Amino acid sequence: MAQKPFKVLVILCVLISTSYGREGNKENPVCDISIRDTDNLTLNCSRKDITTIPTSWPAEINNIEQAGDVLITFFYNNIVNVTQLPEVPGNKIAIILKSNKISEIENDAFRNIHGMVYLDLSNNSITGEVLRSEIFQGPYKDGIYSKIALETLNLGHNEIHSLDRYLFQYTPNLTRLYLNNNPIETLDHVTILALSSAVNLEVLDLSSTEIDSIPLNAFRGLEKLQHIDLSNNKFVTVPESLRLVGSTLKYLTFNKNPIVELNDDSFMDLSNLIELEVAENEYLEEIKRSTFTPLKNLRVLRISHNKNLRYINHNAFRGMKDKWTLKEVYLDDNHLNELSTDLLPWNKLEVLGMTGNNWLCNCDLNNIVTSQGAGTKFKPGEIPYCAEPMKFSGIYVTNITIPFCPTLDHTFATKKGFSLSDMKPKHVLWSIFGVAMVAAFGLVLGLFINKITLYIKYRNQPVPYGLLPSDTVNA
Ligand SMILES: *[C@@H]1O[C@H](CO)[C@@H](O)[C@H](O)[C@H]1NC(C)=O
Ligand SMILES: *[C@@H]1O[C@H](CO)[C@@H](O)[C@H](O)[C@H]1NC(C)=O
Ligand SMILES: *[C@@H]1O[C@H](CO)[C@@H](O)[C@H](O)[C@H]1NC(C)=O
Ligand SMILES: *[C@@H]1O[C@H](CO)[C@@H](O)[C@H](O)[C@H]1NC(C)=O
Ligand SMILES: *[C@@H]1O[C@H](CO)[C@@H](O)[C@H](O)[C@H]1NC(C)=O
Ligand SMILES: *[C@@H]1O[C@H](CO)[C@@H](O)[C@H](O)[C@H]1NC(C)=O
Repeated sequence: MAQKPFKVLVILCVLISTSYGREGNKENPVCDISIRDTDNLTLNCSRKDITTIPTSWPAEINNIEQAGDVLITFFYNNIVNVTQLPEVPGNKIAIILKSNKISEIENDAFRNIHGMVYLDLSNNSITGEVLRSEIFQGPYKDGIYSKIALETLNLGHNEIHSLDRYLFQYTPNLTRLYLNNNPIETLDHVTILALSSAVNLEVLDLSSTEIDSIPLNAFRGLEKLQHIDLSNNKFVTVPESLRLVGSTLKYLTFNKNPIVELNDDSFMDLSNLIELEVAENEYLEEIKRSTFTPLKNLRVLRISHNKNLRYINHNAFRGMKDKWTLKEVYLDDNHLNELSTDLLPWNKLEVLGMTGNNWLCNCDLNNIVTSQGAGTKFKPGEIPYCAEPMKFSGIYVTNITIPFCPTLDHTFATKKGFSLSDMKPKHVLWSIFGVAMVAAFGLVLGLFINKITLYIKYRNQPVPYGLLPSDTVNA
């Protein structure tokens, strides 16, 4: 309540300030100012048909405290050339230049904005050539350009093929980098050098960049990388290069890629992953044994909207059950029909999503839902329906009871569902060897019997040439 007079003052202040400069000109466009309190100001210059960066800010901006936050937005204007921005006081400054027509950025453009921690240049026409290290130079002091505070840089939805290897030399605190929706195609040598110089990177968005691989050393030196988005690219496997950051990576988003299966190699070494999302992969058909085994700290697993995903091996979570960490599993909107009763320790989950599949409501599903308590983990309003058999079609999986289901302890119901695809190459080799041995034995036995038969048959007759047992063996 003690703040009330202060709030009134603030409102007054806002009223006064929004009436500022109604007759604004080209250099000083009419921007809407809103001041939340003395340390929080927003300057809204969005949708104003602005074509050039203003050369000065409204005077109110100077009232901001040195420790304040300032947000300046230039959404949806027609700025082409980012020229040097005038000084902005404050500690944490965010500049949004999203959705303009930017194709040029001047050297030292941001030099006067010491507190700029957030810069959004997304949805413009910026190419790799425009992104020179000089654009991020700080003030020139003692014969060198100083570094700037930038932490978040959004370069999404531009025309970038490649990054300058020195691009990040003045931005040592860069933590979040968005390169999504650029025609990168291949992460070339210089781009890799640029990325690996951003040693404080925690979030890297490479979604929709048309890449199909990531060089093995690409993330070398990125010892803080926690979140990678690789969605909507051309990967046919989960890139092996992620293993290099396996000890730090916590969030992996791998949607919309042309993968066909996930297997025990897919997430190898990603032992600190907390959240994994694999969604909308329209060719994904199968999740094989031990796929999730390396993910020893996983809490949230989202496998959804994979419209051809039909099969999850009952050993997909093999070896994880002793130290179970998973809390939320979403299997919504796949093409699943059945799940093994022993796939997961169902009762240890907090949330389970199963909607949008073609569930066959048989004894196994009934066991999972009822005996093992999975039915209590669905979110309200997200109870899956049975699709088959006909008599249960359209009924909630939690509504059915099937008489005469065997009341097997589910730990013994685990040995079925073996398929050839479970086998590793080693197993296949042994199997082939086994079959060969049996065949060889059969052959020898056959010849032996043949010999005896011949012997019996011709014992009392002259042996016709060419039918001698020894010839048969050599044939
Ligand atoms: C400033 O206001 C925004 C909302 O407009 C809020 O999200 C932010 O936390 C505020 N900052 C401070 C320092 O109060
Ligand atoms: C900024 O101003 C534009 C145009 O006046 C308006 O459409 C938009 O909602 C404003 N944005 C904010 C965050 O106030
Ligand atoms: C951008 O603006 C600067 C400063 O006005 C100017 O020197 C430069 O030539 C401009 N660049 C382009 C491509 O127009
Ligand atoms: C990009 O900007 C254009 C207008 O300049 C707008 O129509 C489009 O929706 C924006 N796209 C994104 C992804 O923001
Ligand atoms: C980077 O962040 C650290 C810690 O917050 C800070 O002390 C340092 O001044 C920042 N560097 C720059 C160039 O702003
Ligand atoms: C589920 O059972 C409840 C209570 O018996 C019933 O009201 C509801 O209509 C059933 N819904 C479905 C979709 O099976």
